[in-house]
Amino acid sequence: MQSLASPTRHRVAGSERIGPYTLLRLERGGLEPGVAGQFFMLEAPGRPLPRPFSLCLAPPGELAFLIDPIGPGTEAICELEVGDEIRVLGPLGHGYRLDVERPLLVGGGIGIAPLPYLAEQLGGSPPVVLGFRSEEHAEAAALFPSAEVVIDPVLVTDVLPEGYDVLACGPEPMLHAVADLCPDAQLAWEAPMACGYGACYGCVVEIDGALKRLCLEGPVLDAQRVNGRYRVPAVSEEAVSA
Ligand SMILES: Cc1cc2nc3c(=O)[nH]c(=O)nc-3n(C[C@H](O)[C@H](O)[C@H](O)COP(=O)(O)OP(=O)(O)OC[C@H]3O[C@@H](n4cnc5c(N)ncnc54)[C@H](O)[C@@H]3O)c2cc1C
Ligand code: FES
Repeated sequence: MQSLASPTRHRVAGSERIGPYTLLRLERGGLEPGVAGQFFMLEAPGRPLPRPFSLCLAPPGELAFLIDPIGPGTEAICELEVGDEIRVLGPLGHGYRLDVERPLLVGGGIGIAPLPYLAEQLGGSPPVVLGFRSEEHAEAAALFPSAEVVIDPVLVTDVLPEGYDVLACGPEPMLHAVADLCPDAQLAWEAPMACGYGACYGCVVEIDGALKRLCLEGPVLDAQRVNGRYRVPAVSEEAVSA
C-alpha cells in the first residue's frame, strides 16, 4: 500500500482536443510513468477529491492523459490551461503483464486511454481494435499509427480475430463480452476511487469471489479472476462527485 505517498505539483504543458476528449500533457517532474494500465490520481480543481486516470502517453519529460469530460471533475481538468498546476499521485495499482506473445489491444470509448502507452511498452506495432459510439469519438483513433475502428452498432467483439493475447480496456459490458470470448484476456476495470492506494474502500468490487479493493488488486485483472461477476456496488452520485 502506498499510503505514505503524497501528491506532487505538476504544470500543464499542453491541452488539445481530440474529438470530444482532451489530451492533457503535464510536466513529469520526478514521477515515473510506470507500467501501462497503472493509473494516477489527478487533482480536480474546485473539488475535494482527486480523480483516477490511466496514463495515455509518456512523451519525454511529460505524462499525457486522455480525458472524457463526463462530470464536474473531468470538466474542470479539461478546462486547465498551459501553465496551470495540479497535484498528481502515481503510478498506482497493477498494470498489464507485458510478457505476452501475440498481443492484441482492444479498446472501447474512453477505454482506449491506456492503449497508446501500452502499444509503446510492448514494442513494435501490435494490432489494435477500437470501438466508438460515434464518428466524433472515433477521432481519438488518431492516437494510434494504425487501428481497426468500428462504430456502434458494430461492436469490437464482432471483429475480434482469434489466436491473440487480448489486452482490453473499455466499458463494463464490453469487458464482460471480451472475457466470454477470450478467457485469458487481461482487462482494465473501473470503480469510483477516492484515494487510489487502499485507504478509502470506495473501490471495493467482487474479485475471485470476494470483495476486494480494485485500486490494489487491479485495475488490470485476468479475466478468470472476475468470472462474470465483476460489479461496482451502487454508490450515491453525491459520494462519487465530491
Ligand atoms: C483506474 C481508472 C482509470 C481511469 N482512467 C480514465 C482515463 O484515462 N480517462 C478518463 O476520462 N476517465 C478515466 N477514468 C474514469 C474517471 O476517473 C471518471 O470519469 C471521473 O472520476 C469522473 O469524475 P467527474 O467528477 O467528472 O464525474 P462524476 O460526477 O464523479 O461522475 C459522473 C458519473 O459517472 C459515474 N462514475 C464516475 N466515476 C466512475 C467510475 N470510476 N466508475 C463507475 N462510474 C463512475 C458517477 O456515478 C456519475 O454517474 C478512470 C477510472 C479508473 C478507476
Ligand atoms: S480508491 Fe481508496 S481504497 Fe481503493
